Amino acid sequence: MSLLTIADLSVRIGGTAVVEDIALELAPGERLALIGESGPARSLTALAVMGLLPDGAEATDSIRLDGRELLGLGDREPSRVRGARMAMVFQEPMSALNPLPHQLSGGQRQRVGLAMALATRPALLIADEPTTALDVTVQADMLRLLDDLVQRHGTSLLFISHDLAVVTQLCPRAAVLKDGRLAEQGTTAAVVHTPQHSYTQRLVTAARATGWDTPEAVR
Ligand SMILES: Nc1ncnc2c1ncn2[C@@H]1O[C@H](COP(=O)(O)OP(=O)(O)OP(=O)(O)O)[C@@H](O)[C@H]1O
Ligand SMILES: [Mg+2]
Repeated sequence: MSLLTIADLSVRIGGTAVVEDIALELAPGERLALIGESGPARSLTALAVMGLLPDGAEATDSIRLDGRELLGLGDREPSRVRGARMAMVFQEPMSALNPLPHQLSGGQRQRVGLAMALATRPALLIADEPTTALDVTVQADMLRLLDDLVQRHGTSLLFISHDLAVVTQLCPRAAVLKDGRLAEQGTTAAVVHTPQHSYTQRLVTAARATGWDTPEAVR
């Protein structure tokens, strides 16, 4: 059975649809990347799964964890299920750690964030651009640590990133979001080698222009 099943997910904020009709599935121990350039609603999708949408945001239709619906059940039961089964490393770790942050480097903050997220041994870890703010060496260390920990504990990973080089190393499957909608999804190899959507083609071309070459084999 799948661990996480997202079906027809839409999120409206103040009457505006910011996520529309997203469908994603994640099996136990599986890794899925959510990619796309700035603002396609990757974070909002993750926050909807975590039950942490901002005030005024409303999510429909369905997010199931272990087959149990998390949307529309009132607050208590879904929070309990989420707290026991999932955790998130946030895009901006500063806000999650207080008052320590200003004394820690970006890399230290993200390591602490990762340790905190994994402390309860969640079945699902959502990592939202966990290395974007870090310099390249620290980024590589952080990714090795993430890779090692989720591997060791059989944790499912929803990994949000705009960095195709990182995604191809870490995640066998990828979903491309554009303007709150799913442009395409498939194996990461298929997405980067034979992109179906013109938006994905542009992402791959842009990544190549920075010197990245699509690897022959994606893990
Ligand atoms: N609290 C909010 N109120 C209104 N609109 C919002 C809110 N949060 C996000 N949005 C809008 O929803 C869209 C998706 O935002 P989101 O933060 O999910 O994007 P993202 O894919 O994570 O992009 P990035 O991390 O690159 O900024 C954006 O257009 C954003 O302006
Ligand atoms: Mg984001």
